Amino acid sequence: MKKILITGGNGLVGTYLKKILNGKDYSVFAFGKEDLNIIDIEKSYKIFKDLSPDIVIHLAAITDVDYCEKNPDITFLINSKGTENISKLSIDFNCFLIYLSTDFIFDGMKNSPYTEKDKPNPINIYGKSKLIGEEYIIKNCEKYLIIRTSRIFGNGGKNFSSRLREILKEKKEILLTIDLINSPTYALSLTQTILRLIEKGFYGIINVCNKGWCSFYEFGVKMKEIMKINTEIKGISFSEFLKIYQQAAPRPKFSPLSIELLNSLSIKIDSWEFALEKFLKEE
Ligand SMILES: NC(=O)c1ccc[n+]([C@@H]2O[C@H](COP(=O)([O-])OP(=O)(O)OC[C@H]3O[C@@H](n4cnc5c(N)ncnc54)[C@H](OP(=O)(O)O)[C@@H]3O)[C@@H](O)[C@H]2O)c1
Repeated sequence: MKKILITGGNGLVGTYLKKILNGKDYSVFAFGKEDLNIIDIEKSYKIFKDLSPDIVIHLAAITDVDYCEKNPDITFLINSKGTENISKLSIDFNCFLIYLSTDFIFDGMKNSPYTEKDKPNPINIYGKSKLIGEEYIIKNCEKYLIIRTSRIFGNGGKNFSSRLREILKEKKEILLTIDLINSPTYALSLTQTILRLIEKGFYGIINVCNKGWCSFYEFGVKMKEIMKINTEIKGISFSEFLKIYQQAAPRPKFSPLSIELLNSLSIKIDSWEFALEKFLKEE
């Protein structure tokens, strides 16, 4: 039975991944930060030595984009150097490394969905730190899988897209941006797809997100419609938003990911609207 080691195993994607892999033909060892801190090289080495995993799914990262902007040193230490540490261990112990990357490695100026071949040009610290991780893996690992995904939502997620369901229930009125557009991705769709990619033995770089794209405003309006609630949603531009939340990091304006490569592997993925319906039915 193949052994899978997961870093960042208690985060949003890690939580879904553990459920998806449960009962499948793998021994899964998912670690939270307390047990496998990716910047603690000695302890990480010991875990790799003891387990000798076949596959490493590296999810651990600081994912709060605004926090990253204000705290570049710790962001680069964990997202970039931490990824280098996990990559080196994966090379030393001959593991197949899977790394989750982001649409935020792009500047959002393209006007059509980004393919795997497009040139990255991150405009914020988070995007830069994740790209450095990608670059290390591409340069040093012989065989790897880099999955670029975007705006993940799911149960228990601490990010805005995941919390929006509760925010809509609590507030009478909310403001959502109309001009930050990318592809929402349900953590369930993402983790099911990761499993398919492992099963198919795919390697290289691939985009994985739900089909289609939208602004946060459109996402909120669709959510409100499915939930049948009366919260008023006002659309504002990102520049208006920045006047209210001055600490927000810059974000790419248009960064949907093309899923043509994924489709060419005969892997189907739900539209974001359908995935959102499924999420809202999930308890
Ligand atoms: N969320 C998105 O929209 C999105 C989009 C594109 C790509 N991604 C990528 O997908 C991956 C998974 O994201 P997610 O949504 O599951 O994020 P998440 O919920 O924030 O999970 C990340 C996990 O990493 C842990 N972590 C932080 N520092 C660590 C360290 N030094 N050592 C070990 N673990 C550490 C966090 O623990 P604490 O919470 O205790 O710090 C958290 O449990 C990340 O690599 C992220 O960059 C996410």
